[in-house]
Amino acid sequence: MRIKPTNIWYFICLLAYLSVSGGFSDLGILNISGLKTEYLSNPLGVDDANPEFSWVLNSENRGAIQTAYQIIVSKNKKVAEKGRGEKWDTGKVNSGQSVNVSYEGKPLESGMKYYWRARVWDNDGEASPWSDVHTFQTGILNEKEWTAKWISHPDTAVSAPILRKEFNIEQEVESAHVYVTGVGNYEFYLNGKKVGDHVLDPGVTDHRRKVLYETFEVEDLLTKGRNAVGLMLGDGPFRIVEREERYAWRHHSFGGPRGLVQLHVRYSDGTEEVVTSDHTWKASRSPITYTSLFGGEEYDARLEQKGWDSPGFDDSAWKSVEVIDQYRATLDSQLMPPIRVIQTIEPEVKTESEKGIYIFDLKQNISGWWHIRVKGERGVRIKIRGAETLNDSLFPAPLKPGDRLSTKHEYHKNVWTTYTLKGEGIESYEPRFFYTGFRYIEARVDKPEQLESLEIVGRVVHSDLKRNGHFSSSDSLLNRIYRATVWSQRGNLHSVPTDCPHREKGAYNGDGQVIAEASIHDFQMQPFYKKWLRDMRDAQQENGRIPNTSPTVIGGGGGGVPWGSAYILIPWWMYQYYGDTEILKEHYSTMKSYLEYLENLAQNDSNPEEIYIINEFGSYWTSLGEWESPHERNDPNQPVVSTYYWYLNSRTFAGVAGILGNLEDQERFEALADSIKRASVTKFFDPDTNLYGWKKPYQTYLLFALAADHVPEGHEEGVLNRLIDDIMINRRGHLATGILGTKHLFKVLSDYGREDVIHSVVSKTDFPGWGFWIEKGATTLWENWEGKNSHNHQMFGSVNEYFYKYLAGIRAPTDRGTSTGYKKIHIRPYVPEGLERAEASLKTVRGLVVSRWERRRDGLAMEVSLPANTSGRISIPVPEFGQTAITESGKKVWDQDQYLGGVEGIVGGIHEDNHVNFDLKAGDYKFILSTFN
Ligand code: BGC
Repeated sequence: MRIKPTNIWYFICLLAYLSVSGGFSDLGILNISGLKTEYLSNPLGVDDANPEFSWVLNSENRGAIQTAYQIIVSKNKKVAEKGRGEKWDTGKVNSGQSVNVSYEGKPLESGMKYYWRARVWDNDGEASPWSDVHTFQTGILNEKEWTAKWISHPDTAVSAPILRKEFNIEQEVESAHVYVTGVGNYEFYLNGKKVGDHVLDPGVTDHRRKVLYETFEVEDLLTKGRNAVGLMLGDGPFRIVEREERYAWRHHSFGGPRGLVQLHVRYSDGTEEVVTSDHTWKASRSPITYTSLFGGEEYDARLEQKGWDSPGFDDSAWKSVEVIDQYRATLDSQLMPPIRVIQTIEPEVKTESEKGIYIFDLKQNISGWWHIRVKGERGVRIKIRGAETLNDSLFPAPLKPGDRLSTKHEYHKNVWTTYTLKGEGIESYEPRFFYTGFRYIEARVDKPEQLESLEIVGRVVHSDLKRNGHFSSSDSLLNRIYRATVWSQRGNLHSVPTDCPHREKGAYNGDGQVIAEASIHDFQMQPFYKKWLRDMRDAQQENGRIPNTSPTVIGGGGGGVPWGSAYILIPWWMYQYYGDTEILKEHYSTMKSYLEYLENLAQNDSNPEEIYIINEFGSYWTSLGEWESPHERNDPNQPVVSTYYWYLNSRTFAGVAGILGNLEDQERFEALADSIKRASVTKFFDPDTNLYGWKKPYQTYLLFALAADHVPEGHEEGVLNRLIDDIMINRRGHLATGILGTKHLFKVLSDYGREDVIHSVVSKTDFPGWGFWIEKGATTLWENWEGKNSHNHQMFGSVNEYFYKYLAGIRAPTDRGTSTGYKKIHIRPYVPEGLERAEASLKTVRGLVVSRWERRRDGLAMEVSLPANTSGRISIPVPEFGQTAITESGKKVWDQDQYLGGVEGIVGGIHEDNHVNFDLKAGDYKFILSTFN
């Protein structure tokens, strides 16, 4: 066919269009996607002067590697569309970096929307098309730009006050955004509508010194002429008042609730108007007559003031607000996913236990609240509360007629909401400034004969973190353990990782630390941890100590060295999993102060002579060791635990110093770690028995000794055997660990090739173990192996690490043979007897990693995906005896113990340690292993 000149023109134009529009992505050629700024897509309120950019490479060709990138940033969308950036144009940068590239363009201005794109080059020198145009909008970059004032109801005792103000808009609006916050919590309204779908905003911080604000785009809600803004304020964690009968973990008050609003309206003529909270606002009571983060809420619909948040409302009877000038908390943008109502669950079963008392079963333990739709006469009152079990029993069970809600725990018995009907058709209500944890709901109606209908659903409420990984297998027990672990994380992601959603709602560093690696697999944790690490830094005491909860305003309970260690370990995992070095830089000096605190502690404990051992210190509650092991709550030799975590922190921090090029610190902390190790071996290791830390085998201590190599030469196997004998013989395949030892169980045993022992522990259905809980009806993880107390604690959730890393085999960057940020990936599954199939997928910072295996009659099928810009190794387990052949996508790559080569993307193969290992370039692969005896 001859191409006519007109056709050529058409073709050239099409090519140009595709390269500019990013339209090549559909053609399967190299392209990039998943563009993020500060870990979020198109965020509002970026208040970092040098935000970080990331993207993911896609290519259908095996072996694609990024060799260069270019980023452009512009204030003007059209300019960005043309592939130009007047704010920043990196030009072609020869680098494989695709995560956390720091902005280094011209200074950014506050409240501006910026448009950015990126493109990359691969190892063949091919350029990808420009990505789609992405945006980020800055927040307030300079504190002085805050002109709004904190305002509150003049009577600070008023519950959940409402505040309002009207203003005029005369001109054409081009754009408008609002910065808004309130402590404890706020809801912001504009012209009769609640702005945004967040609940329980803002995320909890130490409100005495820092408050997070949100940015919303609001031009669509404004009208020409009269407009009205409104705020409703809740006490949240800022004020927890004592009230008879109502439960609260603890009480405190930093003052009455207060709010802050700064609305920027930009007109088409380029001028700007700012509406701020100030003395001209008016305040009133709302229908919420009582509110408490712990105790519940009371809502009297008869007190509603219709139209209070719309223009034209008569507020002449309202009071003038009070301006609180002396409140000077720093304002940071809430750059993480907010808390939302994530899911609604309809109860499957409902019973009436007595006239007017209804019980509902959601069949899932959740954190959140209930929503009611109700019809009845004015003044009828409905009291609702929740619980995790029925009939005061230890375990949950399906709801049957005659069952009653358990009231054995105060945090269920004395926590409730009430709704008083206004009597106007169908009414609906859900609480605003309170949440709790429950599976069953009880509704009591005071005048049941005056109620026509009542419907209740459960609302699942938590930080809206995107899911990151998935696991499933052919074993329903494992799947249920996995799901319960995910549900417990969902129950405890409330702007900080909490211990439980009902009793304490505390940001316990210990609980957060042991679940962190599992959470990094299950959810996209980056922005959440970035914020939480700042909470830890804010909570740090003058002597360097990191308290047991961060922030301390909520929680503030017990812990010890493993709790504070979150401040060293989580930045390290952020670096390992996300390749984030900025986080290490940001916290370097304060992390170091924590280590100095520990060094001091060792010299001021019950035995100051032993300067490399942290002996007894403080009170029982400030120096906990292992926590919640079965049978024995107390750690028999707590210094083993404190000293081990000190060691771990020192070693880890030496690693941090090395990454940041601080060789002096690196040497200092390596030397410190060596000294702690020597002292630990001398003090805790018994060469005659191969036991560590205790006269009887104590699994947690043995795991620590192996993890840290606190074992003299020649004794390693002996220690390992003591551990395995204790699990497999003394305890017939069961663990005896608390939250700390459990976290170590998986990696330590896997490093010694003893996944069989892990699998035995994880598969047990009798006490103690996850399977025991599941058999007893658990849909979330519990606080202790016995099932006493809370049924929604996430701290035993490290078991999900086993599923992803070892059973499905996607080894983590903290495992051998891998590198940070999944640049080098290792897939090595454990295929236990009796399991037919396992699979996991993981959205890493470099893209989707998949591992899937299934038994075949004569062998094993395995599928793996390594995203572009990575490389890796797959280790396929082969039987000890017999001949094996392996094909990849139908082509033989291994036969008679020989690597055959010749398959694109596979660069080598070797038989080692009962596995055939193939080194792979990025790409999708399908292996089939057949065995012949
Ligand atoms: C919390 C924990 C916490 C522990 C330590 C408990 O009351 O619920 O999860 O780590 O105290 O003090």
